[in-house]
Amino acid sequence: MSNNTLTITDNRTGQTYEVPINDETIKAIDLRQVRVQADDFGLMTYDPGFTNTASCKSRITYIDGDKGILEYRGYPIEQLAEQSSFLEVAYLLIFGVLPTVDQLAHWEQRIMRHTYIHENLTDLLKTFRYDAHPMGILVSAIAAMSTLHPEAKQVHDSEVRLKQIYRILGKLPTVAAFAYRHRIGRPYNYPDSTLGYAGNFLYMLDFMGQSNYQVNPVLAHALDVLFILHADHEQNCSTSAMRGIASSEADPYSSMAGAAAALYGPLHGGANEAVLRMLREIGSVANIPGFIERVKKREVRLMGFGHRVYKNYDPRARIIKKIAYEVFEVTQKNPLLDIAIELERIALEDDYFISRKLYPNVDFYSGIIYQAMGFPEDMFPVLFALGRAPGWLAQWVEMVDDPDQKISRPRQIYLGERGRDYVAMERR
Ligand code: ACO
Repeated sequence: MSNNTLTITDNRTGQTYEVPINDETIKAIDLRQVRVQADDFGLMTYDPGFTNTASCKSRITYIDGDKGILEYRGYPIEQLAEQSSFLEVAYLLIFGVLPTVDQLAHWEQRIMRHTYIHENLTDLLKTFRYDAHPMGILVSAIAAMSTLHPEAKQVHDSEVRLKQIYRILGKLPTVAAFAYRHRIGRPYNYPDSTLGYAGNFLYMLDFMGQSNYQVNPVLAHALDVLFILHADHEQNCSTSAMRGIASSEADPYSSMAGAAAALYGPLHGGANEAVLRMLREIGSVANIPGFIERVKKREVRLMGFGHRVYKNYDPRARIIKKIAYEVFEVTQKNPLLDIAIELERIALEDDYFISRKLYPNVDFYSGIIYQAMGFPEDMFPVLFALGRAPGWLAQWVEMVDDPDQKISRPRQIYLGERGRDYVAMERR
C-alpha cells in the first residue's frame, strides 16, 4: 500500500477504501465510490463558503495565513510594494515572470494606449443618476464593454485574450474616473497617458483646467502601492466569481462584471467603507472600550479585523500603515487615524481577539488613506477593483488554459419536500 493514500472505513458497511493523496489533498470525486447500496449517489463533502475545498491548482499567489506571508509568483509582497510598480506587478501576475526593460516598456505602452473608452460607453455613463453609486456604474460599464468588443468571446485565442487584457487594464481607470466626475457634476477629463498609470488616474479625477496642474508624486506613488497590495489574493470571493462565471466560457468583461459585483459587498471590497463608518460612530478614543464591549457581545463586528485566511497580522496592513504616514505628510492627518491606532492597540491586547486570531486586515487603514486623499467613501471599492483587476485577469488566463477545469457547478444536499401533488388554488 502506498503511503500517499488515505484509508477510509465506512462504518455503515464496514467497507474500506483507499484514496490517493496528492499535494495534501484528496479528490472529492474519489469519495463517490463510498456508498451503502450500489445505486446510491455516493459520498459528498459539505463545505458552505468553501472553507476547506480547493477549486483549482494555481501558480499565481501564495498565502500562508498563519505566518502572515503573501507572495505573488513567489516574490514577497513587501519587496514588490517597495521596489516594483503596479503595471510591472500586473505583468508578473499575468505572465508569471518579471519583465525585461523592453517587455515592461511595451506592456506599459500597450496598456496606456487603451485608456480611451468608446464614446457609446461615455454616453452610457452619462445616463446614470447624479447620485448613482460608482461601484454600480463600474459593474454596469464593465458588462457593457462586452457589447463593444464582441470578439472577446474567443476566450481560447491567446492573442484575443491579450488584447482584452490591455483594454481592461487601460480602460478601467477611465471608467472609474468618469463615474466619479459624473457624481460631482464635472466634465470628464480624457486620459493623458504620459502621466503613468496612477498619475493619469489622479489627473482624470482632479484636473479642473488649471494651467499649472501637476500630479502629486507622493499621492500617485501611494495609490500605485495600494494597487499593488490589492492586485491578487488567490481564490477570494470576487476571484472565485470571476473563475465561476468564466468557467462557462463567458467573455472576460461579463466575468469581470460578476467579480466586481462580488467585490461590492461589505464583507469583501466594501469593508474599508464600513471601517470609516465604524470609526466615525466610535467618535473618540474615550468611546473605544465601550465599542469593544459591544463587539464582544456580538452586537457589532470590528470592521477591518479578521480574515478567512490570515490568522496573523495581514502583511498588507503593515505596509499600508507606513503609506498612511507618507500620505499625511501631503494631506492633513485624518483625525480618524488616532481612533484606529488606539482601537488596534486595545483589540490586539484583548483575549476575545487574541483567541480568535483576529488581526487588522488590509482594509483597516486603506479607507483612512483614501479619505485623506479626498476620495468619497463610495469610491473605495472602485479603487479596490482597479487594483484587483490584474489578479482577476491572471486567474482567468490560468483557468482557461487549465485542462483540469470544468464548468463550475457545485452539488447540494437536498432537504426539501418530494413528490407532492399540485393543489388547486380553491383548495388551499
Ligand atoms: N469582529 C468581531 N468578531 C469577529 C470578526 C470581527 N471583525 N471577525 C470574526 N469574528 C469572530 C466571529 O464572531 C467568530 O467568533 P465565534 O467563533 O465565537 O463564533 C470567529 O471570529 C470566526 O469568525 P468567522 O466569521 O467564522 O470568520 P470567517 O473566516 O468566516 O470571516 C471575515 C472572515 C468575513 C473577513 C470576518 O472576519 C469579518 O466579517 N470581518 C469584518 C469585515 C472585514 O473587515 N472584511 C474585509 C476582509 S479583507 C478583504 O476582503 C480584502
